[in-house]
Amino acid sequence: MRTDARIGVVGATGAVGSVTMRLLRERGYENVRAFASGRSAGKELEGGIVVEEATPDALAAGGLDVVLFSVGTSASRELVPHAVEGEALVIDKSSAYRLVDGYPLVVPEVNGGRALEAIETTRVVANPNCCTIPLTCVLKPLHDAAGLRRVRVSTYQSVSGAGAHRMEALLAEPQAEHNLVMDWSWDGDETVEE
Ligand SMILES: NC(=O)c1ccc[n+]([C@@H]2O[C@H](COP(=O)([O-])OP(=O)(O)OC[C@H]3O[C@@H](n4cnc5c(N)ncnc54)[C@H](OP(=O)(O)O)[C@@H]3O)[C@@H](O)[C@H]2O)c1
Repeated sequence: MRTDARIGVVGATGAVGSVTMRLLRERGYENVRAFASGRSAGKELEGGIVVEEATPDALAAGGLDVVLFSVGTSASRELVPHAVEGEALVIDKSSAYRLVDGYPLVVPEVNGGRALEAIETTRVVANPNCCTIPLTCVLKPLHDAAGLRRVRVSTYQSVSGAGAHRMEALLAEPQAEHNLVMDWSWDGDETVEE
């Protein structure tokens, strides 16, 4: 992507969004706007970018070529359509558009070409979750070489997967009282992550 692309990061104050902001800065993208909830609006991030509230009107107003969403599933369902209305190409990190017909599910190193389908259609590219992405990078060459029929996966998740607030809470707890409970639900004997 050209470094003068106009990029929006929605969820810029979160665990994923703050890494996204750092990577964009390190890679020389200068035309970046940061969005989060009203709680963080006005906050100044590293590099002097001031957080804007991700309202439907702000996202639908246009002026952004690509918008990277990391706000969680329900907020993505609510806000992504407005960014699309503003003619941005959206890349969504939540589960909102995963496995939904018409929305390519993309890991760049595995099937990056499929992202192009979204440009002419839904304008939303979905991402698998954080365990699946590196796993598919390893499985793809094995599949190409030998053909994989089935893979069973167990995931052992860290608290960081529950977001920035949960990480801060864990750091503030006495070690003996750590609450390592995650918020994933069970589907039979597997979690939704698996
Ligand atoms: N953590 C991981 O390792 C990881 C990895 C891959 C994918 N994901 C996915 O990425 C998404 C974000 O995860 P996270 O861990 O970064 O969460 P997080 O640390 O809780 O951050 C959430 C971000 O979304 C913003 N936000 C929340 N509700 C909003 C709303 N209604 N309108 C606008 N902004 C809103 C928050 O803004 P405020 O600061 O203003 O509250 C914050 O910037 C989730 O779908 C998650 O499943 C997470």
